[in-house]
Amino acid sequence: MANNIFVRTAVGVWDWVNARAPALVPMYQKHMVQYYAPKTFNFWYYFGSLAGLLLVSQIVTGIFLAMNYKPSAEEAFASVEYIMRDVEWGWLMRYMHSTGASLFFIVVYLHMFRGLMYGSYQKPRELVWLLGMLIYLVLMAEAFMGYVLPWGQMSFWGAKVIISLFGAIPVIGNGLTEWIMGDYLPSDATLGRFFSLHVIALPLVLLLLVVLHLGALHEVGSNNPQGVDIKKGPKGNRWAPTAPADGIPFHPYYTVKDIVGVGVFLVVACLIIFYMPMFGGWFLEHDNFTQADRLVTPAHIKPVWYFTPYYAMLRVIPDKLGGVLVMFAAIAVLFLVPWLDRAKVKSFRYRGLISKVMLGMLAVSFVWLGKIGAGPGTDPVETVIGRVLTVLYFAYFITMPLWTKIDKTKPVPERVTMP
Ligand code: HEM
Repeated sequence: MANNIFVRTAVGVWDWVNARAPALVPMYQKHMVQYYAPKTFNFWYYFGSLAGLLLVSQIVTGIFLAMNYKPSAEEAFASVEYIMRDVEWGWLMRYMHSTGASLFFIVVYLHMFRGLMYGSYQKPRELVWLLGMLIYLVLMAEAFMGYVLPWGQMSFWGAKVIISLFGAIPVIGNGLTEWIMGDYLPSDATLGRFFSLHVIALPLVLLLLVVLHLGALHEVGSNNPQGVDIKKGPKGNRWAPTAPADGIPFHPYYTVKDIVGVGVFLVVACLIIFYMPMFGGWFLEHDNFTQADRLVTPAHIKPVWYFTPYYAMLRVIPDKLGGVLVMFAAIAVLFLVPWLDRAKVKSFRYRGLISKVMLGMLAVSFVWLGKIGAGPGTDPVETVIGRVLTVLYFAYFITMPLWTKIDKTKPVPERVTMP
């Protein structure tokens, strides 16, 4: 009986909502049950949903942290210690949030690498890529500002070094640096504005961009490891006569697949959060457990690992303005990939040796630069290696129109083929 009342009430509420918002069910159907995704999604297709999961987790744990965090230079460091020691489950919220930031970047880098491997940025998915790049930019700003909030030594000095980079811009540089900081050094004013941007403005922008990212993707349909456009292939599958024959409903097929990815991911995340939350100083740096002190400079100022490839580029260039320009160009050039790639086929599976070597070179130079950027930066040999790697990194993009044109490609099958 109780069950019956419960079911009747639920159906009643459902009908009531449906009568007033009749577009909800068709929208759900369009994006889940009637969204036909290629049937050959592989391991690399886990990272989009994992990035979504991390975005939600960062927002939820962030809300709980903000309940006890104090955004003032006087109290910030102590309030984080208070969260760690005295607030019920505070340590868990903090470690989920700090580990989550690093995991977010691991997932997003793998997600981007997948795009490069399978040519997912090529026509008609340029907008999906561009929106993804905007997400990446905002995510970097979000992570940078978040790192300043605990007001440890690395928060303070990291903020000082990075914001001071704007000082390299001729004429307006110094004024701009002061304007961003709201002071001559990172201070209470800086902390206040970074807090406000970190907890509300940028998360809102991120959420909006992710919705647009998925909207743009669903408009054109997903790519796949073969780079075959299933919309151009034969029509008709067992669910709908007009749907692509090689497409399967996103729900339940890929929701179930993504749950497997989430399960494995959660095991890894829990191992890190519970057993090595600092991850040897890579996810939370040792220097950040000391309160910010403007009179004591840490021996090696360096950002968290996800920024170190760019930081290495900045450091190996002898000229400050040159370094800043190269660093920003390294990110900006990624926006242009859809137009630099002249290859007739999308996926690297049907591209030639040159494409594979170039992509491998890009990955190696990015990771190696990351290692150099995380080091003290005092070894002259490493500086030379860093310069060579910077050239190799840019070579991938600058020479892309050439090598994608001359590289031999294999014929792409008409339909996606199961491996
Ligand atoms: C908060 C960060 C992000 C979230 C939540 C997110 C989410 C997603 C999801 C759910 C998908 C569909 C599933 C999949 O293909 O894995 C997707 C596809 C895609 N994303 Fe992202 N994304 C993010 C960041 C990025 C970034 C930084 C880029 C690149 C600059 C990017 C580029 C792409 C591309 C090209 C596709 C289409 C892939 C294909 O069809 O093969 N995304 N994204």
